[in-house]
Formats: sequence, C-alpha cells, structure tokens
Amino acid sequence: MSLPETSGCKLSLIVAMTREGLIGRDRDLPWKISADLKRFRSLTMGHTIIMGRTTWDSLGRALPGRTSIVLTRKADLVLPEGVLRAGSLDEAIALAAGDSEPFIIGGGEIYRQAMDRVQQLYVTWVEANIEGDTWFPAWDPSKFRLLEETSHPAEGTTPAFTFTRYERAAP
Ligand SMILES: NC(=O)c1ccc[n+]([C@@H]2O[C@H](COP(=O)([O-])OP(=O)(O)OC[C@H]3O[C@@H](n4cnc5c(N)ncnc54)[C@H](OP(=O)(O)O)[C@@H]3O)[C@@H](O)[C@H]2O)c1
Repeated sequence: MSLPETSGCKLSLIVAMTREGLIGRDRDLPWKISADLKRFRSLTMGHTIIMGRTTWDSLGRALPGRTSIVLTRKADLVLPEGVLRAGSLDEAIALAAGDSEPFIIGGGEIYRQAMDRVQQLYVTWVEANIEGDTWFPAWDPSKFRLLEETSHPAEGTTPAFTFTRYERAAP
C-alpha cells in the first residue's frame, strides 16, 4: 500500500497529550506548559499550520510568522486577511503544497482525519492524570519510529512532560 498523496511535502503533526490521549477541555488546553508553547512556536515558525475551526476559535488570532489554514464547512466564515479557509483536508494540504513541512496542529477532529497522512509526529507527553473532553485518535505506535525523547520533571504547577519526535516507519 502506498502512502496517501501529500503534494510532495513532509506533512507533520504536533500535539500535546496525556498518555491516555487527552488533548483538550472546554475548547482549550487542559494545562499550561510554557516550554511546550515555546517548542510549538520554534518548530512551526515560518511554516503553514492547518487547524480545525474550533482550534482557530480557541487561539483567537493568527499566530505570527506562520500561514494559518482553517478547516471549516462554513462557506461564509469570515477570517482575517492572510488566513486561508479550506473546506476539506485535501484542500488544506493542497494549499500548503509550497511549504516543505506543513503542520497539522489540531484539534481532535482534524488529528483523526490527518493521522493516516502524516509522516512525522511531534508529541509532547503530559505525564499527569488530567480530566477533559477532547481526545487524540487511537493510533498504532508500531507504524512510527521514535527518534527523539527528552523528559522534564514536574515543577511547581507544571506537570512533568516528555518531548518526543516520531517518523513514519511503515504505511
Ligand atoms: N493538546 C493539543 O496539542 C491541542 C491542539 C489543538 C487543539 N487542542 C484542543 O482540541 C479541542 C478542539 O478540538 P475539536 O476536535 O473539538 O475541534 P477541531 O478539530 O479544532 O475543529 C473541528 C471543526 O473543524 C471543521 N472541520 C472538521 N473536519 C472538517 C473537514 N473535513 N472539512 C472542513 N471542515 C472540517 C469543522 O468546523 P465548522 O464547524 O466551522 O464547519 C469542525 O467543527 C480544544 O479543546 C483545543 O484546545 C489541543
């Protein structure tokens, strides 16, 4: 089986989740980890970021230095100048074709649809039991190779977390 078409670019996905797969609560992140926000910023800077409309709403603005693509089925959704609208994941990936590494940045619905198409995963594992309402889809870790792993202990109100990077090993 060949990998689905991704317009020749290396499609990456970036997420922070608990080991149970929790990613969100009340349309927001269930934690505050400033080192993770910094990592997100540095990895995505200069690239295209593809997100669902709920995640767009929760960000509340276009992130500087990146091209935002918002997935929505609402043809009349008004977006700021420079922010692109896509009516399907295929359209979003086609719009990002000029970027060497576009990033799928969530949320749950978009991760679910994109998981079979991404070549690289940047996962921040949040090492805590936290409650919430939005989940990363079930995935098969045997299809990915772990390339990097750096653990950080809990500090104050910040839970312990582990930065990882995976590359697709099999289709
Ligand atoms: N932990 C993390 O790393 C992380 C990252 C990102 C987000 N999050 C969290 O995830 C939660 C949001 O996730 P979510 O699953 O509720 O929503 P989402 O995936 O951000 O957005 C869902 C919306 O995307 C649009 N959409 C979905 N599939 C589409 C398709 N095939 N074509 C066109 N439009 C499509 C629809 O928008 P319309 O209704 O406008 O049609 C849908 O309502 C929040 O809590 C957020 O904080 C966590």
